[in-house]
Amino acid sequence: MMDWTTSHYRYLARQLSRHTLLYTEMVTTGALIHGDTARFLRHDPTEYPLALQLGGSNPQELAHCANLAEQYGFDEVNLNVGCPSDRVQNNMIGACLMAHPDKVAEGVQAMIAATSLPVTVKHRIGIDGRESWDDLCEFIEKVSEAGCRTFIVHARIAVLEGLSPKENRDIPPLKYDWVYRLKARYPHLEIIINGGIKTFAECREHLEHTDGVMLGREAYHNPWLLAGVDTEFFGRPMPISSRHDALRAVLPFIQSELDRGVYLSHISRHLMGLFHGQPGGRQFRRYISENAHKPGSGIEVIEQAMAKVPEPAGATIVPA
Ligand SMILES: Cc1cc2nc3c(=O)[nH]c(=O)nc-3n(C[C@H](O)[C@H](O)[C@H](O)COP(=O)(O)O)c2cc1C
Repeated sequence: MMDWTTSHYRYLARQLSRHTLLYTEMVTTGALIHGDTARFLRHDPTEYPLALQLGGSNPQELAHCANLAEQYGFDEVNLNVGCPSDRVQNNMIGACLMAHPDKVAEGVQAMIAATSLPVTVKHRIGIDGRESWDDLCEFIEKVSEAGCRTFIVHARIAVLEGLSPKENRDIPPLKYDWVYRLKARYPHLEIIINGGIKTFAECREHLEHTDGVMLGREAYHNPWLLAGVDTEFFGRPMPISSRHDALRAVLPFIQSELDRGVYLSHISRHLMGLFHGQPGGRQFRRYISENAHKPGSGIEVIEQAMAKVPEPAGATIVPA
């Protein structure tokens, strides 16, 4: 998620779950090819398994960037066919490509030829003007014939004329049944469902009909949810026993980022959700908001903010 799933968020998320697949923000092929490639692809090996999400449609450029993903150590390369912003529509990036399944297929084929990484596609169930079941099936068929096996489906259409990107994440109704139907119709494909999912109970229900679940906003605003994923869905031990321990595990990384000149406030804003709903959580967030931006602020701001939250004595907290 743009501006949200930065390396700093992902480092925290990885303390909470070892097995959840994490995704980068979308990076456009143009930025990677003409910009500071190393900066855009920067991540910590701790973050694996990690997918790089690309935005673009030019097959040569997508191929080049898929190859870069492999060189930089990512585990998967994903193509964004879901982002509705005007800026990306003008460059034939994101959800507008739902109207051009041949173009997406060509891009995917070029990516697959350029890397041995899995190439996956994240998309909508349609866009305004191309929102029928047959349109969606045509998209899936063309893109899967090009070699894509995994589709991450945001279960609502994107309205490109008239809704903002934010509205496009809430207003078009969720149609989970369409995603279930895709899995039923194309059982050989891996179909991952996304959109409005918040609880493990909802995840379990979706997993009855699909191969996987992607959480966006809830995983960001309430990252502690991730602390239950390894036990609940992977049958593995919980990697961390408290929110405080998770934050302590991030401190050395924060210090190394500060040492290379990153501002504390650029890091700390991605930690704000950790004590979501906890006594003292508000004071934690307030202390960070009031202090992290001050010149010279360092790790002590995080430690002092953490001290505002009572620490449970030796108890393992079970995520909600
Ligand atoms: C701030 C923000 C940025 C996002 N950026 C991206 C992005 O870069 N690529 C992408 O595929 N989806 C992006 N999304 C959409 C989410 O991945 C997801 O599809 C959408 O929020 C619905 O899922 P959710 O209800 O679990 O959040 C973004 C969402 C938000 C809130």
